[in-house]
Amino acid sequence: MAFRRTIGGAASAVVLGVLTPFGIWSCQSRAPAPQSESGPSHLQRGAYLAAYGGCNDCHTPKTFTPQGPVPDSTRFLSGYPADAKLPPVTPGALGRDKWGALASGDLTAWAGPWGVSFAANLTPDETGLGGWNEEVFIKTMRTGKHMGVGRDLLPPMPWYDLAALTDNDLKAVFAYLRTLKPVKNQVPSPIPPSAGR
Ligand code: HEC
Repeated sequence: MAFRRTIGGAASAVVLGVLTPFGIWSCQSRAPAPQSESGPSHLQRGAYLAAYGGCNDCHTPKTFTPQGPVPDSTRFLSGYPADAKLPPVTPGALGRDKWGALASGDLTAWAGPWGVSFAANLTPDETGLGGWNEEVFIKTMRTGKHMGVGRDLLPPMPWYDLAALTDNDLKAVFAYLRTLKPVKNQVPSPIPPSAGR
């Protein structure tokens, strides 16, 4: 997807290079203090994987600009905004040889044959992944079950792509998510297809 991806707080280890008459002067902004035993490079790897994995595309609410929607950095990875209003799905729009899925304007809600799914709040707030630990996160991505034990996760969450990561990389992604600004946002439960969508 073509949305501009921004990387949250923990990922702000930016290398700047400036050409001066004395050669290339470079500085590296300091990575935030390590919040896991594994240190800043572990967090940087987590941020890198989260950026590459496009978590932002679906999990960050967007602001709308003349150039199109851009991730809202104040609500980074906080999921479908609980106070958003979804337009009705036009009856008959979805189906074989029709649209396979429809997304809300900011791509945080998705309607398809599975009903309507809402991208989760990935911030460490209690309404997000606050109560999660590394083990639950890894199990969720490996099994595609809610919190590793519950219902099957709905599309378009690409858990099967994350499942291919090593334990260490999944730990890095989780450690990075732990460094996000907590955002209070209780994402609704999915709406089953029987609810007329
Ligand atoms: C194409 C859209 C999309 C992308 C990309 C995406 N997600 Fe999701 N994600 C979703 C949706 C939708 C849900 C809600 C699924 C549900 O309710 O079953 C979700 C749910 C989750 C959950 C909650 C699982 C649970 O047990 O309830 C986690 C954790 C998660 N995503 C992490 C990530 C991470 C980390 C990335 C990036 C590496 C990512 N997602 C990329 C759409 C996406």
